[in-house]
Parts: sequence; structure tokens; C-alpha cells
Amino acid sequence: MIKPNLVLAALMIGGLATQGAHAHGDPVHGNSVFTQQCSVCHSALPNKNKMGPSLFGVIGRKAGSIDNFSYSDAIKNSSLKWTEDVFEAYIAAPNKLIPGVKMYYDGLADAQSREDLAAYLATLH
Ligand code: HEC
Repeated sequence: MIKPNLVLAALMIGGLATQGAHAHGDPVHGNSVFTQQCSVCHSALPNKNKMGPSLFGVIGRKAGSIDNFSYSDAIKNSSLKWTEDVFEAYIAAPNKLIPGVKMYYDGLADAQSREDLAAYLATLH
């Protein structure tokens, strides 16, 4: 007879292995980071710019590419594309990745929060 505890242990190990392989961020936590640190300047709704451009659909688009937002030359000329990796590097230290960017935000020190934020932004499509 199979012991229920062993089955549970096997499921848990399987679950951990899957997590390690994909290393996904947590979009629910990402959403709360967004609300606390970004929403003062950014909306998650399409076509709604605040002091910063709308972040709807940002993952996958070219940096500085929303038509009705007036970007700095620094970001327009960066020729970056917002993959999750590029985004995470940017949000760690915006001015380091794009010198002269006009986003007055020092950076998000916690790597897990950066990944969670990227996972949240990736849901906005
Ligand atoms: C004080 C206001 C402010 C805060 C806070 C802020 N941003 Fe920004 N953000 C801006 C501005 C302004 C720009 C445009 C920069 C430029 O034109 O150089 C920008 C640009 C961006 C871009 C580039 C978008 C594009 O269309 O290329 C991303 C991505 C971004 N911000 C993400 C974030 C995230 C995520 C947070 C929270 C961790 C955040 N920002 C916090 C003002 C802000």
C-alpha cells in the first residue's frame, strides 16, 4: 500500500523542481509593489499616461515607443526592447541602464521584487 505521506512528499519535490526550472515571479506580489512604488506615476490601463507612460503591454514593446507620450531622447534613442530581463535590469537602476532617463526613481534593490514586478507587468496585455 502506498503511504499518503510519501505521495505528498513526492508531489512537493516535483513542485519545487518545476519552480526552479522556470523561476517565475509572483504577479500578485508584483501588483502590490506596482501599487506602492509605480502607480503614482504610471497607469496599468491602455492609453492612460500620467507623469510616466502607460505600462499596459510594456513587456515586449520597444522602449520609448508610445505615440502620445513625450519621452526623453535618452529613452527614445536607447534601442532597447522591454523583455523581462531588460526590464529587471532597468528597474534595479534606471539611470545606469539608460543614462539621462527622466524617471525620478532610484531603483528597486530587492531582486525578488523586481522579478515579481516583471511577472505582473507581463500580465498586462
Ligand atoms: C516619479 C515618477 C515615476 C516613478 C515613481 C516611476 N516611474 Fe517609470 N517612468 C517615469 C517617466 C517620466 C518615464 C519616461 C522617462 C523618459 O522619458 O526618459 C518612465 C518610464 C518608464 C518605463 C519605460 C516605458 C516605455 O514606454 O518605454 C518603464 C518600463 C517604467 N517607467 C517602469 C516603472 C516601474 C515598474 C516603476 C515602479 C517600480 C516606475 N516606473 C516608477 C516616471 C516614473
